[in-house]
Parts: sequence; C-alpha cells; structure tokens
Amino acid sequence: MNPTETLTQTTKNIEAAFAGESMANRKYLYFAKMARELGNAEVAALFENIANQETGHAFAHLQLLYPKQGMTVEKLLELARDGELYESNQMYPDFERIALEEGDAAAVAEFQEQAAESREHASIFQKAAQRFKALRKVEALHAAEYDELLQKLRSAS
Ligand SMILES: [Fe+2]
Ligand SMILES: [Fe+2]
Repeated sequence: MNPTETLTQTTKNIEAAFAGESMANRKYLYFAKMARELGNAEVAALFENIANQETGHAFAHLQLLYPKQGMTVEKLLELARDGELYESNQMYPDFERIALEEGDAAAVAEFQEQAAESREHASIFQKAAQRFKALRKVEALHAAEYDELLQKLRSAS
C-alpha cells in the first residue's frame, strides 16, 4: 500500500484488514499446496475452500478503499502503477538497506529481485495507461468527426 499519513484511522484499519485477509488467502493456498504434497487432498481442499472465502473478505474491504463510483480504467492503471512504484522506489530499498545492516544476504537478494519485478509491473501499468489515454484521444477525434458529419447532413436536409 501507499504511504498512509493523511488517512483516517478507520481507513488505515480497512487497509490493515484488507492486508490480513489477502495474506490469509495466499497463505491458505500455500498450505493447500503443501497439504497436497504431504498426501492429504482432503485438508488441501479445505484450505482452498476457506482461501476462496478470504478472497471475498478482501474484496469487501477493497470496495470501501476503492469505491466503484467515479472509478475509470485509467485511474485503476494509475493506482496500480503507483503501488508498484512505491514498492520498487521506497519499500524494497528500505527493506534491502536493513537486511544489509543485519547481514541477511538471502533477504537482500529477494528484496532486490522483487524491487526489479515491481519496477517492471509499474512500467507495464504505465504503458497500458498511456495506450488507454491515446485511445481515448483517437475516440474523441472520431466522435468529433461524426458530430461534424451529422451537422453537415442536418444542415443539408
Ligand atoms: Fe476472513
Ligand atoms: Fe507487482
């Protein structure tokens, strides 16, 4: 998530709840995978079922954090880009520095790798947002052309 200084405590709590439910979802899917590898398909299925319910819980929190009203595709892409930029420019570099201080080489490597992937994700979202903007301009141009044509037809009749 992005820096939270200007948010109300309740919004911060919703973000924390969203994080918790999201983590539960991925954790139970991971546990399901392990349970299956350990030979227990029944417990694996149980974890998968609860994991799906955790997704529903996470989505309910997201609806409060990113309400549908006023949302656009462009805004979605920009929000996603900003989240990835926060990870690659701030979160992972901070984590990497501390891991370095604590001499945890595995964590340093992991943070560097994930920072690079977050950077790549940010650039994918950025490019998509730009394509979307360009497309909207073309569409606006077409709409203006149709308008002009329509007016010509109207004044001719
Ligand atoms: Fe839950
Ligand atoms: Fe990412």
